[in-house]
Amino acid sequence: MTATRHLIGLLLGTEEDWPTAFEEIVRRLGPVDGPGGSQHAFDVERITIEPFNLRDRPRYSLVIDRLAYWYYVPREWLKKVAMMDDVYLLNSPFTFQSMEKHAAYCAMIRLGFKVPETVLVPYKHPVDNARYAYTASRYNRPFDLDAIARQIGYPLFMKPYDGGAWRGVSRINNPTELHAAYDASGEMLMHLQKAVDYDIFARSLSIGAETMVMRFQPDQPMHHRYAVDHGFLSPQVGNEVVTIGRLVNAFFRWEFNSCETLVRGEEVYPIDYANACPDVALTSLHYYFPWAMKALVKWCIFALATGRRGRLDLETDRFFAVADEAGMSYQEKLAVYRDLADAYFESERYQDFCASKLARLDQIVLDWVAGPNFDQLLVQTVRAVYPADEQDQFIAHLRGLLGLWVRDESARLATA
Ligand SMILES: Nc1ncnc2c1ncn2[C@@H]1O[C@H](COP(=O)(O)OP(=O)(O)OP(=O)(O)O)[C@@H](O)[C@H]1O
Ligand SMILES: [Mg+2]
Repeated sequence: MTATRHLIGLLLGTEEDWPTAFEEIVRRLGPVDGPGGSQHAFDVERITIEPFNLRDRPRYSLVIDRLAYWYYVPREWLKKVAMMDDVYLLNSPFTFQSMEKHAAYCAMIRLGFKVPETVLVPYKHPVDNARYAYTASRYNRPFDLDAIARQIGYPLFMKPYDGGAWRGVSRINNPTELHAAYDASGEMLMHLQKAVDYDIFARSLSIGAETMVMRFQPDQPMHHRYAVDHGFLSPQVGNEVVTIGRLVNAFFRWEFNSCETLVRGEEVYPIDYANACPDVALTSLHYYFPWAMKALVKWCIFALATGRRGRLDLETDRFFAVADEAGMSYQEKLAVYRDLADAYFESERYQDFCASKLARLDQIVLDWVAGPNFDQLLVQTVRAVYPADEQDQFIAHLRGLLGLWVRDESARLATA
């Protein structure tokens, strides 16, 4: 029987590390059995940007996109191939466009999550548009910024409604800082948000039906932000953090996204969960990089081999019905949300598929990470990212962390 060939397209920005890893793992894995005795083979190709006819048929069955958030030609191409050609995308380009923090906050508040008190304030300097000045002078109500801040309470954060990469984020302790930050915000549209005084910052990266919850240290330099730490959350809190990440993703039809939650005692506060180009760089994920690459490969192959269809409809009513259930406690709602999310991600079918059709992948990836080919990728990545006088230090640092992963993973597979 001949295998069905699937072409996976990668839409990339500047990164070289994870695409190389992804290509290598798919190549080493080779053809995969699917349901009903079917056979599947996979090719990976990097997509170039060019004019396209809206009626063109794409060659790709699935696309991993890292670019469209910033670059409009691929963004519109993704909408076309999702809408017209049923190309499988990990993140819906339609909700992706509305993927600012603001819409995600609204959704999570509506679903009953503990988003810190958040207020949207009008622009300090309205966008440059002749008509806007007229509208503003007629309809903009003057407002008392100090009163809003007092009501939220200090300390608080001022941050763009659509932010990313800390652009325009400031922590504010008093009215003087409040006015300085607002004056500096210019044409950025800002939220004021109550600061959460947290014990643990948990950042979870979800790829399809899998989630890795990592202990995050936002004040550290990039390569130290993810601490290698296991069991730093109680089982119940860990479960809640995973549920929040998966729920956001199921709600918006995102399958490759990271979610930031602040944990104080047993309370979990989600603060940032619209990151559909999540950081998966080798230099920042280090120990967790092999997990991320495996999860990405597994999810793509699962979707293609089982004929999973991309979903553009949101079915928000199903989620809101749970939110509106009067007699249900927060914990009970969490359990139902988790079921909805697991149903969206076909979690059980995915686990079965991985166990029965992809069982060899763990060893393949372990052999690769332990070998010279991966080390070469590590060295090349450090050379591309860090200045010459820091390269040796970072090569040693990353080798240490990946060596630790190789030891842990070898032990895990030996007892599995
Ligand atoms: N409500 C809050 N309480 C406490 N800390 C906060 C709060 N909001 C933001 N922060 C801090 O500010 C940082 C940046 O905020 P946020 O994640 O919302 O912005 P961002 O631009 O998306 O940053 P990044 O790209 O790092 O995720 C957070 O990582 C956290 O350390
Ligand atoms: Mg953030």
